[in-house]
Amino acid sequence: MSTTRTSPLDLTRPFPPGFLWGTATASYQIEGAATEDGRGVSIWDTFSRRPGAVLHGDTGDVACDHYHRMNQDLDLLERLGVGAYRFSVAWPRVQPSGSGPANQRGLDFYRRLVDGLRERNIEPTLTLYHWDLPQPLEDRGGWCERDTTDRFADYVDLVARSLGGDVERWITLNEPWCSSWLGYGAGYHAPGIRDIGKAAAANHHLLLAHGKAIPILRSAVDSAKVGITLNLGDHRPGSDHPLDVAAARRVDGNLNRLFLDPIFHGEYPQDMLDHYASAQPGFSVIQDGDLALIAQPIDFLGVNYYFPSTVIDESRATEARLAGYVVAPEDPFPDLKVRSLETPGRDKTAMDWEIHASGLTSLLMRIRDEYHSLPIYITENGAAFDDYVDPNGQVLDLNRIAYLQEHISAVHDAIDAGVNVQGYFVWSLLDNFEWSFGYSRRFGIVWVDFPTGDRLTKASFDWYHDTVQKNSVEYATSVGSP
Ligand code: FCB
Repeated sequence: MSTTRTSPLDLTRPFPPGFLWGTATASYQIEGAATEDGRGVSIWDTFSRRPGAVLHGDTGDVACDHYHRMNQDLDLLERLGVGAYRFSVAWPRVQPSGSGPANQRGLDFYRRLVDGLRERNIEPTLTLYHWDLPQPLEDRGGWCERDTTDRFADYVDLVARSLGGDVERWITLNEPWCSSWLGYGAGYHAPGIRDIGKAAAANHHLLLAHGKAIPILRSAVDSAKVGITLNLGDHRPGSDHPLDVAAARRVDGNLNRLFLDPIFHGEYPQDMLDHYASAQPGFSVIQDGDLALIAQPIDFLGVNYYFPSTVIDESRATEARLAGYVVAPEDPFPDLKVRSLETPGRDKTAMDWEIHASGLTSLLMRIRDEYHSLPIYITENGAAFDDYVDPNGQVLDLNRIAYLQEHISAVHDAIDAGVNVQGYFVWSLLDNFEWSFGYSRRFGIVWVDFPTGDRLTKASFDWYHDTVQKNSVEYATSVGSP
């Protein structure tokens, strides 16, 4: 018997026909033009001016200047060959004070964007809220106040009636966990408040706003596909000690179940309601009928996945350190009384986030098993690395290519296991304003030279272009990454 290989080893993994490939951005992170054409002030304009809030005092005033370079960016998307582009509408551009009539010039900007996408056969995927709340609403209590949910409903109506004919896929909110728990709980994001009771109230009001938006979108847009984007994670205990198992359960409760349970099961997880029982106003803001609104059927779930976490109970931190583990100095989540552990040997991105692609596969399988079999889109996935333009004028971001390959392959694993994943969006098209890290963290597959605004495609852009063309990815080998 001959051992000679007769055909070359085939490492490709084709995706189902029609799988949707895209990239994602968000208004405040790329647009700039902060005071142009009647745009109002958002909580991020205010927060970024607070001393110490954002690295180097960076703001989104200019960002990638996308507002003025939209055509160039549309051409980049066309070159990339993607079938979809996920962007967000800045509420203060459309409704400068957060209530009242629309600012037509703001709507016109998004009209030009949607038309430009359609001309290039790229499907717009529109996020209605990616964190830029009009400041006047924050001055009245922001997401801690129920009234903000009605203001959101009015704003959604304005956008849907203006763009509804040409936008099919709508995402009500991006990562409401960050808006509530980072914005009102930990204070790392706008509006920079540290109050657990307010964070819990914001959590509920954001979900209620999502619920109120659903019927508005369905009545304004005939063929609307409505969903929400959650940042979900695979959170594991650092050991099988009961305290660590309980710690991981709390993290899962705060980050995953506080959002998935009300949306898909119509109830908040009891362990979390108990955990936050003394926080005021907290979940006491829930009123009769709210959960029915929140749990209305949606058409898809958007999942943003970046990194996993391994946690232990805070009381076990010293013991873990003595055993040689690297233990985070403080609770990474608001009031969960946990510490995260580094997994020895696991690679990290420039955000200090551990790289663990198979966490995405297990997360997707768990969503299918415990929640629903609706279509899932990976609405964000990507990595920041310390990119640079080399002497030949190129950005050879091979580490980003490896990251994307591993994670796209992990999505393929989930599809093989029967999970209904229908699309994948790379975060991000452009290097941009990475919130409290300012311009210091580059996530783009396109390099942006911030002083001039010039764009330069990175090696990952070409790699992603090939992946999209072939509708397949090669098997990833993550040697040495446990
Ligand atoms: C997500 C945000 C997105 C971007 C990535 C890196 O949490 O939705 O705007 O900043 O992280």
